[in-house]
Amino acid sequence: MTAQRENWGTRIGFIMAAAGSAVGLGNIWKFPYMAGDNGGGAFLLIYLGCVLLFGLSLVIAELTIGRMTQRNPVDAFHRLAGPGWAFVGAMGVATAFIILSFYVVVAGWTLAYVVFMGSGALGHLNIDQNTEIFTRFVASPVEPLVYAAIFTVMMVGVVLGGVASGIERVSKWLMPLLFVLLVILAIRSVTLPGAGEGLSFYLNPDWSRVSSGTWGAAISQAFFSLSLGMGAMLTYGSYMSRDQNLPRDAAMVVGLDTLVAVLAGLVILPAVFSAGFEPTAGAGLTFMTLPAVFDKMPGGVFFGVAFFVLLAIAALTSAVSLLEVVVSYFVDNRGARRGAAAIGTGLVVFAIGVPVSLSQGIWSDVTIGGKSILDAADYFTTAVTMPVGGLLISLFVGWVLGPRAVEAIRSTPDHRLPLAGLWLFVLRFVAPVGIGWVLLQGLFF
Ligand code: TRP
Repeated sequence: MTAQRENWGTRIGFIMAAAGSAVGLGNIWKFPYMAGDNGGGAFLLIYLGCVLLFGLSLVIAELTIGRMTQRNPVDAFHRLAGPGWAFVGAMGVATAFIILSFYVVVAGWTLAYVVFMGSGALGHLNIDQNTEIFTRFVASPVEPLVYAAIFTVMMVGVVLGGVASGIERVSKWLMPLLFVLLVILAIRSVTLPGAGEGLSFYLNPDWSRVSSGTWGAAISQAFFSLSLGMGAMLTYGSYMSRDQNLPRDAAMVVGLDTLVAVLAGLVILPAVFSAGFEPTAGAGLTFMTLPAVFDKMPGGVFFGVAFFVLLAIAALTSAVSLLEVVVSYFVDNRGARRGAAAIGTGLVVFAIGVPVSLSQGIWSDVTIGGKSILDAADYFTTAVTMPVGGLLISLFVGWVLGPRAVEAIRSTPDHRLPLAGLWLFVLRFVAPVGIGWVLLQGLFF
């Protein structure tokens, strides 16, 4: 009794939604710094190689499982290979849940910073003062949770609307807006006095900084950036129609994600160097250094607000895809209505978000394996369940489905899968070895 599954309204709509899932905080705050630190242009080339080899193959693999079965991750594996494989999907749904519970907290910070920048609260402060403001903000018991609640409501609101009239419609507006903001910011950044130093930090290939660890870093970044390993692409693939050209559209999604990451580097590094600051990783760069950078540039309030709006959009479209994984499971397998599933999941996610947020303040001495609750949730998903999921999905499509998967892609006459042999070879051998290696590195080093 399978009801006709809802499909994306248009091809572009699908591409925007899937790119929306992929383009997230990883592209904007993580990629630029990683590139700068790992040999600049050299890292860029290695990253592009990993994206072409692993990333694209795995995106096609996940989309294919989704479209073949038209089901959520748990059911998709079940239908293709029986209950033994269903745990891969279940792990994906659980991962989506955990990621969401800290994603809404961090995304709430980006919303708060739209307000802080816009209200001038961060004017004329140096990095130390910005650090103090940020630390005090995230440690306060109530304020961050208010922003997390606002973000949760926005996310649930989009998913409530459905696949085509909710997720797709919102992505079709937000992704072009994100892109325009990014280009405006990049132009501002590279035309600042002294931007050249940042450009050369970012783009000069320095092969002496490339080590075996660089490859591992590039693989795991590509993997994370493309939202792989936990069924998000699989779920979006389940709404693709059979006459969509899957390999071509997957390549568009991968291309857009990579383009945004590369452009983000042109926004952040020249501006940071122009202001005379050091690029540092993660939260520190975004919330402590950048407000001071914007303060020093002409029109800084405008560009600062634009930047945090950009981050909030990137976070929203990614969060929506995570929620959709969970919702599709409850709708397909538990007979839930979409509205009830989205609201119910939103409430639970927010409830788990409470201790996650408090872990930055009054509950900072509660630790799991020596990490704060937030860091532990992040580590457990990014370093463990996502790579394990990706490894298993790769083996599944390569070995269990094999030629069946190729056949499914070629199911209509005009949809060829060029290099099908290479694709299967990557899924059978290259990706499992690469991901396995990253996994061991993450767990033991
Ligand atoms: N791709 C997102 C980013 O670059 C993060 C992410 C990882 C994600 N896995 C995901 C987003 C699954 C949505 C779904 O920031």
